[in-house]
Amino acid sequence: MFYEEILKGGLLITLMRAVHAEQLEQLQRKVFPALADDELLHAEQYRKHLEIFPEGQFVALNGELVVGATTTMRYHFNKRQPEQHTFKQVMGEGWLTTHEPDGKWLYGVDVSVHPDYRKKGIAKSLYRARQYTCRLLKLKGQVTVGMLNGYEKFKDQMDVEAYFEKVKRGELFDRTVSVQQKIGFEIIGLMKEYLHDPTCGNAGAVIALDAKKEV
Ligand SMILES: CC(C)(COP(=O)(O)OP(=O)(O)OC[C@H]1O[C@@H](n2cnc3c(N)ncnc32)[C@H](O)[C@@H]1OP(=O)(O)O)[C@@H](O)C(=O)NCCC(=O)NCCS
Repeated sequence: MFYEEILKGGLLITLMRAVHAEQLEQLQRKVFPALADDELLHAEQYRKHLEIFPEGQFVALNGELVVGATTTMRYHFNKRQPEQHTFKQVMGEGWLTTHEPDGKWLYGVDVSVHPDYRKKGIAKSLYRARQYTCRLLKLKGQVTVGMLNGYEKFKDQMDVEAYFEKVKRGELFDRTVSVQQKIGFEIIGLMKEYLHDPTCGNAGAVIALDAKKEV
């Protein structure tokens, strides 16, 4: 498979390669400073992902520099009844051994964009690359659990359920889940105790994007 999109300013969205692995580990630390180390992806794990499911791994490059990335796998998903899981469980503790080769959905393990490169359309184009993979493999669409990253500011005012409902109704703008909504994702439900990150109340929003939707 070949995939390339060139963004304004020359940023390139393309398939991940093993040579990017060390930089990807550094990017994880930069983008998710509050995540526990065993919930971050490491160079060795990225190299494994490329053996397991190369069509699902993309990077954003500024020349040789990795400034954004996404990790995905195939997954069985019931939109009406999403199964409870933790981030660590679903991604095989970072190794993607949970990839289901006949899964009809593309599960987004993460999207990360370096802070200096945000609001340039990188996330949107990484989701677009994922749509390409969905269509190529005839999948139903993408599913992921978006971290409720804006909850920290409101944690003394409301519990995470109330925060989630307000984000869902568009009454509060969450810097991750509302961005995903803007890109076209539908909010399906709340997943509590998804990971260990107090900034998002350890919770995430289950969201899905139909493969037919244009991003
Ligand atoms: C969330 C994240 C991936 C967005 O990346 P990005 O490359 O800046 O997003 P894009 O530039 O593609 O923006 C997509 C849309 O959201 C908007 N947007 C992005 N960040 C925004 C923010 N903080 N506030 C308001 N709007 C925002 C953009 O303006 C754009 O809207 P448009 O299509 O109408 O122009 C990035 O902020 C990030 O890496 N955050 C930390 C890690 C994370 O939370 N990842 C998701 C894990 S579930």
